[in-house]
Order: sequence, then C-alpha cells, then structure tokens
Amino acid sequence: MTDPMGQALAALRRGDVIGLPTETVYGLAADASRPEAVRRIFELKGRPADHPLIVHVADAKQLDRWARDVPDAARALAAAFWPGPLTLILRKQPGVPDEVTGGQPTVGLRCPAHPMALALLHEFDGGLAAPSANRFGHVSPTSAAHVRDEFGNAVPVVLDGGECEVGIESTILDLSGDTPRILRPGRITRAQIEARVGPVAEGGAADSPRASGTLEAHYAPRTALLLLPRAALVDEARQQQALGKRVAVLALGALPDGLSGVALPDQADAFAHGLYAALRALDAQGANLLLAERPPSSLEWLAVNDRLRRSAAGAGLGNDSP
Ligand code: TXA
Ligand code: MG
Repeated sequence: MTDPMGQALAALRRGDVIGLPTETVYGLAADASRPEAVRRIFELKGRPADHPLIVHVADAKQLDRWARDVPDAARALAAAFWPGPLTLILRKQPGVPDEVTGGQPTVGLRCPAHPMALALLHEFDGGLAAPSANRFGHVSPTSAAHVRDEFGNAVPVVLDGGECEVGIESTILDLSGDTPRILRPGRITRAQIEARVGPVAEGGAADSPRASGTLEAHYAPRTALLLLPRAALVDEARQQQALGKRVAVLALGALPDGLSGVALPDQADAFAHGLYAALRALDAQGANLLLAERPPSSLEWLAVNDRLRRSAAGAGLGNDSP
C-alpha cells in the first residue's frame, strides 16, 4: 500500500476519478486530457454532458497550454490571485477535449490554493478536470467525509485535506468576450478584480455559456428550505411547530431562543466556511422544514446570499432532484 498521494497519482494515471481537496470545496478529479476519464466524472455526478468542467492547473505557466489568445487581464489576475479561488474562462486550445468544455469554444482554468492539490498537480504535470464532488444539484462537499458519504466505493481514492478553508466555490470570471463578466460570485470579489483590470460586468449575459452553478436550483439540501429575516423566521417556526412540524434553523450568530439547528458566525467569510457542512447536518436531522436566516444584503455577503438563494430554490426535491 503506497502513501495517499502516491495512490492518488497512480489512480489519475490509470484514468480513474479521485476526490481532491481544494481551498473552496472538494472536487471529483480526472486527467483533463483523457476524454474517457472525464466522461466517468459525468457518470458519477449524474451531470448533463453539456455542462463544462474547470481544468485545475499547477501554475499560471499552464495558461497557454489550455487557452489561446490569453488576454493581459488573465495574466494579471492569475499573477494576483493564483493559487486561489478564481476561475478564468478563456478561449480554448484546439486540443482541449469537448468532454471538458461541453463542446464550447472556451475553457475554465483555475490554480487551487490547497497544498495537497498543488503538490499533486505539480507531480502529475497535467490538468485535472474537476467539478465539485457532489451529485448534480446537491450541496457541495467541504470535507473528505462528505465526498465518501456522497460516492462511497464508487470513488475509492479520496485525498483527505481537511476542511476546506473558503467553503464555497470559486469566483468565475469570463474573459472570452469583449467585457470581463462574473458568472458566479465567490471569495474573490468584483472590487478585487476591478482593482486589477478595470470595469467588470456581473451576471450571465443572455448568450453566455451554461454554468451549472448559475442554474436557479442548485446547492440544494433534500429538505425544503425557506430563507427569511430573523423575526419572520421565528414567527414561521412557531406556526409550523404549532402544526406539528419539525423545524430546523440555520441562524446567524446565535440560535433564536427555543429553536434548534445550527448557528454560524455573523461574518461573511466564516459563514461561507461553515455553510455546506451546516446544510448537510441540518438535512440529516430529519426535519420537515429548514428555515435559514437571511444574511444582510451588503456586498460582502453577495456570494453567500447567492448560494443560499439557490439552495432554497432547489431544496426539498429529494434524492433524484435535477
Ligand atoms: O471552487 C470551484 O470552482 C470548485 C473546485 C472543485 O475547484 N469547482 C466547481 O466546479 O465548483 P463545478 O463544475 O461544480 O462548477 C464549475 C462551474 C460550472 O458551473 C461550469 O458550468 C462552469 O464552472 N464552467 C466551467 N467551464 C466553463 C466554460 N468554459 N464556460 C462557462 N462556464 C464554465
Ligand atoms: Mg458544483
């Protein structure tokens, strides 16, 4: 039996899929240059084949290996934020498999800031296609145990890199068109990006490529979830309990008196760090309804609000939800 890194490397070289820790969430990774290995990721996730995957690379020198006509903005942002939670959508090199790009002319690239992922990427000397290691539409995993819960023996090699520091997925910035556009908000903010490369648009354009993280119903627990301001949440909880329903609460700072559930810090980055583990824990409590406290609408909470809104939209659809 070899060490975990050796096992992971051997599995990737065989064309197998592994569980990979990153600083955002765990990924389901395979050799991005091998179409059959990438197809296996889609089978495992139950994800539609036209949804593109992010290619994880060891450093910014890999930009030109996967992308062409790389704009200066991409180099400036990679220099500033890689390794880190920023994915750049660029025009792809002709050799990038359609399985990775969903047949689109672009490719998503990111260099993850997790020591295990970086060590593996340097050793592997290639790109790793990796979506979040959850079944399609479900809550993303932020620990190795979450990945094992989700896939069991179907993914025998899961590198355990501890809890993900960031806890929500990377910011996605599309640099393939005329104006840079944020397709998915994350830890790296619009202001941080604009400070380096000037004005950036936000939200998918009508003709923008499909990004599954931008579908309305995503990141969803299996129990129905309502997002409410604190006072309304307490009222709703009392009413539901009066009807005999079991209610579990996700609160900011502290749980309201007499209600049970999970409280996360009243601070955006710390809340993001714990969000997906909290949703999984709440889902496991067997409640009829999850009530989540709506965070402030200020910019620092943008990415958290985005994930909570999508969780609420997709919740309660059960195990076979899209
Ligand atoms: O933090 C992250 O980005 C994590 C970790 C594992 O790196 N990965 C992740 O992957 O969230 P995934 O597949 O769950 O979400 C990646 C998003 C998808 O919504 C996908 O559609 C979008 O990136 N994407 C990838 N390539 C794209 C492209 N060429 N054009 C537009 N969107 C793209
Ligand atoms: Mg995902």
